[in-house]
Amino acid sequence: MGVNIRGRHFLKLLDYTPEEIRYLLDLSKQFKNMKRNGVPHRYLEGKNIVLLFEKTSTRTRCSFEVAGMDLGLGVTYLDPGSSQMGKKESIPDTARVLGRMYDGIEYRGFDQQIVEELAKYAGVPVWNGLTDQFHPTQMLADLLTMEEKFGHLKGLNFTFMGDARNNMGNSLMVACAKMGINFTACAPKELFPAPWLVEEAKKIAAENGSTVRLTEDVAEGAKNADVIYTDIWVSMGEPDEVWDSRIRLLRKYQVNADVMGQAKPEALFMHCLPSFHDTKTTIGAQIAEKFGIPEMEVTNEVFESRQSVVFDEAENRMHTIKAVIYATLC
Ligand code: CP
Ligand code: NVA
Repeated sequence: MGVNIRGRHFLKLLDYTPEEIRYLLDLSKQFKNMKRNGVPHRYLEGKNIVLLFEKTSTRTRCSFEVAGMDLGLGVTYLDPGSSQMGKKESIPDTARVLGRMYDGIEYRGFDQQIVEELAKYAGVPVWNGLTDQFHPTQMLADLLTMEEKFGHLKGLNFTFMGDARNNMGNSLMVACAKMGINFTACAPKELFPAPWLVEEAKKIAAENGSTVRLTEDVAEGAKNADVIYTDIWVSMGEPDEVWDSRIRLLRKYQVNADVMGQAKPEALFMHCLPSFHDTKTTIGAQIAEKFGIPEMEVTNEVFESRQSVVFDEAENRMHTIKAVIYATLC
C-alpha cells in the first residue's frame, strides 16, 4: 500500500518511518519542479493554517508562509507577543481554540513537550517548526539537499561538529539513522547528545544499515566525511552567560579549511543557518569584540567556498515544508 500521512502531526522524525520520509522527499522534489516551472499548485484552497512563533525566525516562517500561499491556503502569523498562549491561556486551551478555526498549526518554541501537548489537543495536524530538542522540517531540507548533490543518501558519511546535544545535533542523528547515513557527532563530551537518544539512534541506524558514533577528536570526526555540518554555538533561548564556556568548549571544533581538508575532497559543508561566519551581525560583532574571535562555528572562507551548500538548504526548506503541509492536509 502507498504511504498516506493525511491527518498526521509532524513533531519529530522519530515518529516517521524511512518509507514515510522517502515519500515526503519525493513529494518535495515534485513541488520544487512545479515551482521552478511555474506550474500552479493551489491544491488546498479554502483551508487555513496558523503559525505560532515563540522564538524568532527567517527561513521557517517564510517557508511556511510562501508554501501556504502557493498551496492556496490562508495563513495567520502569531508572534511571541501577540497571542494569549502561555501567559493567559494554557496550551490545551490554545490548541482547542485554534483547532476549531484552522486546518493546521505550526509551532516554534521551547520544550518539545509544548508541541506534543498542542498536538494532543488540537484535533488538526501540528507541525514542529523547531523546539529546544528537535527541528524536523530542517531535516527534510537537509536530506533533500544531500540527495540532490550526491544522487543518493544511503552509505554517506555525515559528521556534525559542535553543540551535538541540541535540536540540530539530535535531529540530524535521527535523520541520518533513519535514512541509512553513517552519523558522527564530533563534540566535547559535555555536549554529546543524551545517552537515551544515542541508543535509540543506534538501533534505528542498525535497522537501516548504518552507524552512529561519538568522538571528541576533530581529525577522527572529519576523516572520510562526505558532509561536515555545524550549527551556532549558543542556541535561541539559551542565556547570554553561556557564551563564555561554550566558546571555550567549541573553539577547536570550528569548521575551517584545515577541517574540510581532512574530509573527502568533494565533501559538502552544510549549516541550517543563521551562521556567525563574520562580524556583519550585532552578535557576531559583540563576540568578536569581547572574545577576539571574528568567525565562530565556521570560517568565512568555508562558508563562502564551492563546497558550501547552505543556500540550497535554505531554499529547500520551502519545498519540503510545502510537502509536509500538503501531505498532512490533502
Ligand atoms: N534554519 C532555520 O530554522 O532558520 P530560521 O531560524 O531563520 O527559521
Ligand atoms: N540550534 C539553533 C538552530 C537554529 C535554526 C537554535 O535553536 O537557535
